[in-house]
Amino acid sequence: PNPPALVSFPSTDVLADSLAAFIVKAQKDSLDKKGRFTIALSGGSLPKMLRGLIGNPGVRWDKWQVFYVDERVVPLDHPDSNHFACMTHLFSKVPIPADHIHTIDQSLLNDLEELSDAYEKELIREFAQKDSARFPIFDLILLGMGPDGHTASLFPGHELLTEEDRWVAYIEDSPKPPPRRITFTLPVINHALRVVFVAAGKEKTDTLSQVLDHPETGLPSARVKPTFPVINFLHAEGIAGTSGLEL
Ligand code: 6PG
Repeated sequence: PNPPALVSFPSTDVLADSLAAFIVKAQKDSLDKKGRFTIALSGGSLPKMLRGLIGNPGVRWDKWQVFYVDERVVPLDHPDSNHFACMTHLFSKVPIPADHIHTIDQSLLNDLEELSDAYEKELIREFAQKDSARFPIFDLILLGMGPDGHTASLFPGHELLTEEDRWVAYIEDSPKPPPRRITFTLPVINHALRVVFVAAGKEKTDTLSQVLDHPETGLPSARVKPTFPVINFLHAEGIAGTSGLEL
């Protein structure tokens, strides 16, 4: 695998513009090759960072198929829901067909196993028939990173970090509330064509150094090692990165 690249921006506005340009390029590349674009989104501050896509003439919303990297097990209109955050900051403002956004099944909130199985089946419907792959191959996965090095709902030291078969798994013991979540597993993330971490903020600086310079410590974010480049964004002072963002 290629080593991860760290890209530094002077502000979150510049980051958001560059991220939008990167997503549009990735989308174009995918549409040229196969006529659809599959993307998985995270929660946290990421939905807000997608603001550069609003009103962006390069985006072909009708060709997007959107999934969530992880989701808190709450109703879809709950403020804790990652889908709710993406609706609020992005999807309510752009012409994406509602059935292109793949959410968790709200009728299964009481049964974590059924809920994660159902989400895995949703992925299988989108990917397995078309690509007949052992794992889905997303065109782009956008991740956040917590100050503890977690990404998706994969937390330091958690047994899910060694999952090798499942596409989607659930946890009931998230150290960060709410405790009940479903999440993509590492093999799914690592099979993506492109993975981008959006890790803006000074409080991420030390963790980023650890993830990039000492991956052997095995923090969840350091276990993301796709075949294609991982690109990390940052706007904190104190870490020098490159300033160009290449597809
Ligand atoms: C969660 C959060 C979390 C978040 C990271 C990065 O599910 O508890 O979504 O995973 O994405 O902690 O957070 P920020 O992007 O807000 O810094």
